[in-house]
Amino acid sequence: MILITGGAGYIGAHTNKILNQAGYDTVVVDNLSKGYENFVKWGSFENCDVGSHDLREVFEKYDIDGVIHFAAFSSVAESVEMPQMYFKNNYKNTLNLLQTMREFGVDKFIFSSTAAVYGSPENIPITEETDLKPINPYGHSKFITEKALEREAEKGDFNYVSLRYFNAAGCDFDCEIGEFHDPETHLIPLVLDAAIGKRDSISIFGDDYDTPDGTCIRDYIHVNDLAEAHVMAYEYLCDKKQSDVFNLGNGKGYSVREVIEMCKKVTKKDFEVKIDERREGDPAVLIADSTKIKKDLGWNPKYGLEEIVSSAWKWHEKVNGF
Ligand code: UFG
Repeated sequence: MILITGGAGYIGAHTNKILNQAGYDTVVVDNLSKGYENFVKWGSFENCDVGSHDLREVFEKYDIDGVIHFAAFSSVAESVEMPQMYFKNNYKNTLNLLQTMREFGVDKFIFSSTAAVYGSPENIPITEETDLKPINPYGHSKFITEKALEREAEKGDFNYVSLRYFNAAGCDFDCEIGEFHDPETHLIPLVLDAAIGKRDSISIFGDDYDTPDGTCIRDYIHVNDLAEAHVMAYEYLCDKKQSDVFNLGNGKGYSVREVIEMCKKVTKKDFEVKIDERREGDPAVLIADSTKIKKDLGWNPKYGLEEIVSSAWKWHEKVNGF
């Protein structure tokens, strides 16, 4: 059985569905601080904090072979406001999880890392060899957790795969689960809020970046493509019994303006687009070189920006009662 921490959240819930479709038994552990119990539609559910002693009871109750660890806070802006909370939740709680895994002899671990560990790199696309220079507490909390994993693996009887996500987006094509953050800060759901009339307009955070249209460029990756990578990473850990780190992106960048245009095309709605100040801490361009995971795991992303936006739009219409 695979234990999924944070499986009631956006990426965790999508991965839980794909794992169950692939025939795996799962148990979700989530304290519901950011997740939603009705996103746990597959496998078992335990309401438990990863940083608590109660976690041991979950390991006693279930026969756990491996852990996929999503439970974390992931807002860059919030991390700047509350760095201690990010280090405690993302780093310290992971140490409790690793300690518990040791106690119960569980040796396979998949970690949700992030492009934020690279900071604002000069050379694009970003490979796994690019220097790790996080520029905010969120990226830093993931960076030091990766370091803890390296050390844990050196001790032996433990292997991990760290997956550095670029911009996760899109939703389950059956609309059983989707993206729901409170407050929402991500570009695509906010643009879709404007399309559906929940917001008057969408603001572009800066149009004076050194990019072709002046707006930031990101590498958007469909959440199901991310989820598939976790299944492959788990099988890799079972077969190869070695630790590794992989970037997860499409390898194609879209500017904020291009994303907004795609949203207008897919939704067939028009809305006001404003230019606002730059958002602090936003790198101009983040694009993944995902050659390594394609070569080593045989992963290949299936979906592009149009499918990302159209799946997100379907979900958006559903939750807004259309
Ligand atoms: N943006 C706008 N207007 C908005 C919201 C966002 O112009 O209303 C812009 C941002 O400035 C950025 C781009 O849209 O250039 C994408 O922003 P998101 O907030 O959707 O995503 P980020 O790239 O900031 O964040 C993502 C993940 C983080 C991760 C980070 C790594 O969501 O968890 O990538 O840099 F840390």
